[in-house]
Amino acid sequence: MISTRRYTVYLLLAALVIFTVTRFREGIISTARIRYETFFPSGAKKSSDGKFHWSDVPVWYPVQSLTQLPKGKPHELPKIQFAFKAEDAVSAVKRKQRQAAVKEAFDKSWNAYKKHAWMKDEVTPLTAHFKNGFGGWAATLVDSLDTLWMLDMKDEFEEAVRSAMNIDLGMATMETINVFETTIRHLGGFLACYDVSSDKRCLVKAKEFGEMLLKAFDTPNRMPITRWKPQDAINGHQVADEVVLIAEIGSLTMEFTRLSQVTGDVRWYDAVDRIMRTFVKQIDDTHLPGMFPVSLNATSRDFTQDTFFTLSAMSDSFYEYFPKMHALLGGLEPIYQKLYQRSMETAIKYNLWRPMVPDEADILMSGNARVEMGKPPILEAQGQHLVCFAGGMFAVGGRLFEEEAHVKIGQKLTDGCIWTYKHSPLGVMPEVFNMMPCASRVEECKWDEKKWLDEMKTHADTQEEDGEAVAKRLRIPKGFVGVWDRKYQLRPEAIESVFILYRTTGKTYLLDAAWEMFQAIIAATETPVAYAALTDVTYSKKEVEAGMQIKMDSMESYWMAETLKYFYLIFSEPDFFSLDEWVFNTEAHPFRRPLAK
Ligand SMILES: *[C@@H]1O[C@H](CO)[C@@H](O)[C@H](O)[C@H]1NC(C)=O
Repeated sequence: MISTRRYTVYLLLAALVIFTVTRFREGIISTARIRYETFFPSGAKKSSDGKFHWSDVPVWYPVQSLTQLPKGKPHELPKIQFAFKAEDAVSAVKRKQRQAAVKEAFDKSWNAYKKHAWMKDEVTPLTAHFKNGFGGWAATLVDSLDTLWMLDMKDEFEEAVRSAMNIDLGMATMETINVFETTIRHLGGFLACYDVSSDKRCLVKAKEFGEMLLKAFDTPNRMPITRWKPQDAINGHQVADEVVLIAEIGSLTMEFTRLSQVTGDVRWYDAVDRIMRTFVKQIDDTHLPGMFPVSLNATSRDFTQDTFFTLSAMSDSFYEYFPKMHALLGGLEPIYQKLYQRSMETAIKYNLWRPMVPDEADILMSGNARVEMGKPPILEAQGQHLVCFAGGMFAVGGRLFEEEAHVKIGQKLTDGCIWTYKHSPLGVMPEVFNMMPCASRVEECKWDEKKWLDEMKTHADTQEEDGEAVAKRLRIPKGFVGVWDRKYQLRPEAIESVFILYRTTGKTYLLDAAWEMFQAIIAATETPVAYAALTDVTYSKKEVEAGMQIKMDSMESYWMAETLKYFYLIFSEPDFFSLDEWVFNTEAHPFRRPLAK
């Protein structure tokens, strides 16, 4: 039996790896490249074109029999979208103006990438240079393809697809590849490129990435290596790691499934189906049955040991993909409904909480649950920007599985993110924070100023008398009790849920909330070059105007792939990329849903 403490150490180690990778990414402007053909065993068969292809690399641990895609006619699933009425002329004008402003921000970002970082992973928005933190395979370009198509930038789309054909998977700018990030950004990007445009070139590239990524699964138990050295796959002898993050092993399903659907080659579906069946088998055996912990042992395939449960960072898309997989498979595979219903039943009980806020708004947040042997789970009343996706997940799950209560929960979670944006000094939500949980989620929750100040002082670990002064000095906005990570990294999750809630409920206050968020983000992040992540969103507008420097030299590819796309889509006509026809992966790449006919 592994002790809690030891697992905490592993978790910290995992966090450290992430931290180091992120840091490394920020500092690296790499030109060094690793060529995989130098690892190719002499005498092994190679393609006649003389180039390196991942499909030529031998399989060391072949599977005995492949799982097929579920057979049968896709089911007629309940509608996700609200039945919108025709729009009046005044709303149409306002909507189009807002959409044009989003398009302008996209144009500026795209042109910056084109001018300063073409075919590199990211453009740097302060120094007008580039970074290669995702293998050097043109991450921003690939991630932006479907957005270019949606925004009707067809010339730019054509130019980008043509250049994308030159991405060479025979080499990389780094030794270790993040399989999850490459799957959601590159594989997802090319698959959506193909789904929106039917351009065969995108499918060719999706398959190339698919062939490479599948090599990370070439281990004795067919569990993938999530922080993967591709050269090891050429030499054989790979073993899945003892500590992997649940989101990184548990949310490769949509992209691998879609690749099998469009190619008719089931190797990819088989690969992820094995992982999901491993989860289903252990669903009653974890320390919080129904949910799975953040850290898993992929060597032993024991997913039950760790004691930390959350919908937030490191878990997020694992849960997000359950209702989405149900949709993508036309309802033909029952395990995703089971996984969704069981895990959400648990999360609703142990992770969701209502914060005590000055205007007594009836909103929800999703926090962390820790389980100590034999004791009831302990809630950590934390909020994160990353977990803002959960509102959209509950809304989609609620519609697909006809649980109206889940749509309501989704709305309160989304309202929680809107509230947090609105009550942050720059109108932009911080990355990680704490608030004061109410005694109950359903009963009224009176604002208690003294309680707030006391809790805030406890979090700040100070003996000072004057709470107001502490809040001012530490820049803790009223209602928050601590802000642990003050960055805003151009993230999409809040607007993602606002968009999904608008499409599912038709409530027009969401359009105004989105517009307010958009204006605040643009005002705070715009640079002469493009848009920059922020180090600290708790400074006031006045302090920033007076010269406080809070911009970072970073604009990740999801800014154009996700954040601006969701802003654009909420100001589109509601049947444009309808959620009844499309399902978005966790990088906002739309895949076509099967038609029930
Ligand atoms: C993971 O499982 C392997 C094989 O059963 C075991 O040797 C190892 O100690 C486990 N690692 C952790 C971190 O629990």
